[in-house]
Amino acid sequence: MLTLEDVSATIAGIPVLRGIRATLPRGATVAVVGRNGAGKTTLLRTIMGFMPGHGGRILLDGQDLASVPARDRARLGIGYAPEDRVMFPSFTVEENLRFPCEVIGMGRKAVDERLAETLTIVPELQPMLARSGAALSGGQGKMAALGRAVMAGERLVLLDEPFQGLAPVLAQQYSASLHRLHQVRPELCVVITESNRSLLKDIPTETLVLERGALVHDEARAAAIH
Ligand SMILES: Nc1ncnc2c1ncn2[C@@H]1O[C@H](COP(=O)(O)OP(=O)(O)OP(=O)(O)O)[C@@H](O)[C@H]1O
Ligand SMILES: [Mg+2]
Repeated sequence: MLTLEDVSATIAGIPVLRGIRATLPRGATVAVVGRNGAGKTTLLRTIMGFMPGHGGRILLDGQDLASVPARDRARLGIGYAPEDRVMFPSFTVEENLRFPCEVIGMGRKAVDERLAETLTIVPELQPMLARSGAALSGGQGKMAALGRAVMAGERLVLLDEPFQGLAPVLAQQYSASLHRLHQVRPELCVVITESNRSLLKDIPTETLVLERGALVHDEARAAAIH
């Protein structure tokens, strides 16, 4: 379970997140919808530990993440697919997928098993494994970024606008992967940001709205964002 207690963040002295309070339970798929510039990316980056000096507390199953530097958050089972994907171009797709697990010191066999499981969740990655991280289309890059987040994210997976700009066929494959992910890891909490609520269809079990850096718990407002 992820708990956000009065989380705030500023960029260049400007408040970007303001008093965010939320409880994201295990097994939930939570959408955070909000217009461009609402603070979605900043919220995920704050959870990942990339916004040092933010206010409030972030707890994962009761553990305060303040003491866990960003580079160690994958060790806690947190996976992140950033908006801009960032695959290492000099690595193959397989190396990109293995990377977060290797960084946290997982053994070869454990990483092999994690990769096999990830490929059952995102089977479209199988034929891409040997390709360069630089040779992917935008949509393929999003699938690979999902796979990489799944590799590390045993407890929490954060996906930043995964459906934005995704062709319909890939969007269907992506949704099917999220469905399988939930079946394979029923306890996992998945957070998906989107500026267009309708792209998420019926995937989220809960929808939160981010408005100018503040979180609003209101389904009607969520439905109005598109
Ligand atoms: N590096 C930066 N320097 C200055 N302001 C920034 C920076 N990054 C973000 N901001 C500002 O912070 C606010 C929130 O940005 P953020 O990227 O978190 O929003 P978002 O909801 O992810 O937007 P989008 O839908 O465009 O991805 C915006 O007003 C943005 O202009
Ligand atoms: Mg963003």
